This record gives sequence, C-alpha cells and structure tokens, in this order.
Amino acid sequence: MAGPLKVGIIGIGQRGLQHVEHLSRLQSEEEVRLVALADPFPENLGEENIQSRAVSYTQGDTALYGSAIEMLREADLDAVWFVIPPNQHRGEIELAAERGIAVFAEKPQTLFYDEAAHQAEAIRKAGVPSTAGFQMRYEPWYVALREYTAERAVTSITMVDVGGIEGHGRKLTRTEEMGGPGNRVWTANREWSGSSVVEAGIHQTDLMRYWTHDDIEWVQSAYVERDPSLHALEGDNPTAYTVVYGFRRGAVANLIFTRPGRVYLNERYDYVLTTHSQVKFEDDLVAYGYEGDAYPPAEKPAASEVRRVLAKGPQNNPMGNENSLELDRRFVESVTLGKPELLKNTFESSLNSLAAALAANVSHELHGERINLEEFTTGERFARFRKRPESL
Ligand SMILES: NC(=O)c1ccc[n+]([C@@H]2O[C@H](COP(=O)([O-])OP(=O)(O)OC[C@H]3O[C@@H](n4cnc5c(N)ncnc54)[C@H](O)[C@@H]3O)[C@@H](O)[C@H]2O)c1
Repeated sequence: MAGPLKVGIIGIGQRGLQHVEHLSRLQSEEEVRLVALADPFPENLGEENIQSRAVSYTQGDTALYGSAIEMLREADLDAVWFVIPPNQHRGEIELAAERGIAVFAEKPQTLFYDEAAHQAEAIRKAGVPSTAGFQMRYEPWYVALREYTAERAVTSITMVDVGGIEGHGRKLTRTEEMGGPGNRVWTANREWSGSSVVEAGIHQTDLMRYWTHDDIEWVQSAYVERDPSLHALEGDNPTAYTVVYGFRRGAVANLIFTRPGRVYLNERYDYVLTTHSQVKFEDDLVAYGYEGDAYPPAEKPAASEVRRVLAKGPQNNPMGNENSLELDRRFVESVTLGKPELLKNTFESSLNSLAAALAANVSHELHGERINLEEFTTGERFARFRKRPESL
C-alpha cells in the first residue's frame, strides 16, 4: 500500500486522545494522514480540547464526524482505531472490515463474547489486518522475558496489581446522559466495564499468555464484592479479585487485583517460575537459575552466582506512552508494508485473553466453578453469559 496510510479514530476520549497524539506525530513523519475523527459529543472534537491532551494535533483537513457509521461510510480510510467504551459497540467493527478497512480495537474488544466472535468473523472474512490494544507486548523488558521463556517452560506466574478506585482516569463518555454512572467513571461500573479484571486485568491476562507462549484453557475465580453502601461513591465493581488461570501446556497463573477506595497506591509484583529458574523484577530484570552442566554442583552456589540479568534497568512504565506509540507505529507499518509479522497480536489471537477475563466473572458468579474456555466460548450452558443483555 502506498503511504502515508489514511487513518481515522472512533472515540476521542481519554485513550483516543493518546492515539490522536501518536498518530499526529506519525503524520508529521509522513507515515499517516489523519483523515477523520468520530465522537458523538461535539466538545470532544473541538481543536483546543483535543490539543489540551494531544499537543501535536492540528485539525487541518481532518474531517470530524458525530457518528462512527457515517465516518466509516464516507471517509476514505485504510485503517481505523476503535477507542470507545467496550459495551458501546454496535457493529461498527464489522462494517469497517466489510469496507476493507484495517481494524485496531482497544481492549477489551467488547464485553460480550458472542459479539467478539462476530467481529472476528467479519475481520477474517474480509481478510483485513487487525490488532488489539495490548501495548505491554511492546515493552522491551517484557519482550526480553518472552525471548527467555521461548526456550523454557513456564510453570507458574504470580501477578499482583495493587491499585485504587482513585486511579481510574478522567473519562469523556457522557455516561450521565446514557443511563450510565453519573460521575462518568464508567471503569468503576460493572455494566460498562465488565469488572476491573475485564477492563484492566485483561492487560495482565494477555501478558501471561505472552510470557507462557500459550493460551488459557480454564479459569477459576473469587471476588470480594464492594459493600452496596459504597456503590454511589466508589462504583459497583468488586474491591478485590483473585483469579487462577490454567494454561494448555500445564502452567498455572494467579492474578490478584485490588481496587479499594482511599488507597492511593499503585504497584505491580510479577514472579515468573520456569522449570529451573525464577524470574524477578528487580532494578534489572533478573533470572535466578543454575545453568552449569554438572548438576547438582559440588558446592551450593550463592543466589548472586546463579543470577543472570535479562534486561538492564530502569524499565519504562509498561503501560505508558512509549509502548503505546510503538504499538501504533507497528500497526501503521504492518498495514502499510503488508507485513502482518510485524505485529505481536491480531484481533483473533487476542480473543483468548478476552474470553479468559470474561470467564473470570462467570466463575465468580458460579461460586468458583472451574470454567473451561472452549465450553465458555461455544457451549449452550454459557450462552446467557456471552450475549449482550437486552437492558443495554
Ligand atoms: N490500552 C490501554 O492502556 C487503554 C487505556 C485506557 C483506555 N483503554 C480502552 O479504550 C477504550 C476507551 O476508553 P477511554 O478511557 O478513552 O474512555 P472515555 O470515556 O474517556 O472515551 C471514550 C470516547 O468514546 C466516545 N464514544 C462513546 N461511544 C461512541 C460511539 N458509539 N462512537 C464514537 N465514539 C463514541 C465518547 O464520547 C468518548 O469520547 C476502552 O475500551 C478502554 O478500556 C485502553
């Protein structure tokens, strides 16, 4: 495809503005032309409003649309970014695919698995390039860890994500006019976000797949529900989540996720165990494991003697803008050059992360039942959990 790539963005909210910034920068490098933006709320499309968060943006001849469908029908686009709340999809991804437009879908792709399968089917049928918004796959330390585990079997992963409801970003969807939360913080609301595991923990879930080189086969979970007296102030998502993922080749991973109120702390702890090594995130990324031929060694080695640096610190914020820019850049290059191998995931390959996060909710609802993902995604028994509720 002759560049620059003609791109559009649907949903100019908190995350959409980051993509506006990245794509504006890629426009100044003549990699893309930002042809169109769509958002139902006109103030979200105002040049000054956009520039307050996306400093490299100038409207120029970028067309503005109040409707995604209209934009997809009228604008001349090679690729489109979908950056809307996950319960708001109404067939736009399918329409983009049918029109031959490459699809970048933010995570979670939707809250309803049947809808995701339908979107994937449309993308597959049209043969358009696609990806999903998991920027941590581009983080250099995480890439180094994936390379390390390519030659070793991961046996277990423990991830602890400590966060609070105050960490929820500033949201631009006018949910107060759409039957959603009055304070717009839809990420704290179950009907809009799925749950914190679906909305945010899906990143960690996807990372577990990245590091194991494997897919999740089953899920078991237990959540701690937030007291209803706190819902008006803090939203109705659970306060704490424990999720266990079982992988096809036998690894087991724990995701512990917290979203209390009043705790102004954000931290991550990740431990990865392989058959014969333990990976730790220190000031550097480090693996502990004896690699000598003569095992066991005659003398017990000190931990410092079996310590191997996989990547030098300091590490960038894995969720930060550097990796998101890299994700956008790679998608642009991949579509422009017709090289899918430049991407670290596709819409289709990301379905397992979505299914796992959605099934964690189901396991909790079924009192910790182990949910097999094959059954969850196709079985009649789980049909009611996969479809969009009529109330939405
Ligand atoms: N990858 C990441 O790190 C990351 C970070 C934040 C958000 N996200 C994801 O990005 C998506 C959007 O989240 P956000 O934080 O930007 O939310 P937001 O509410 O701030 O923004 C969403 C925007 O979409 C617009 N919108 C809503 N329905 C629309 C429709 N049908 N057509 C066009 N525009 C529509 C809203 O007006 C709003 O401007 C979510 O799926 C979220 O999970 C990903």
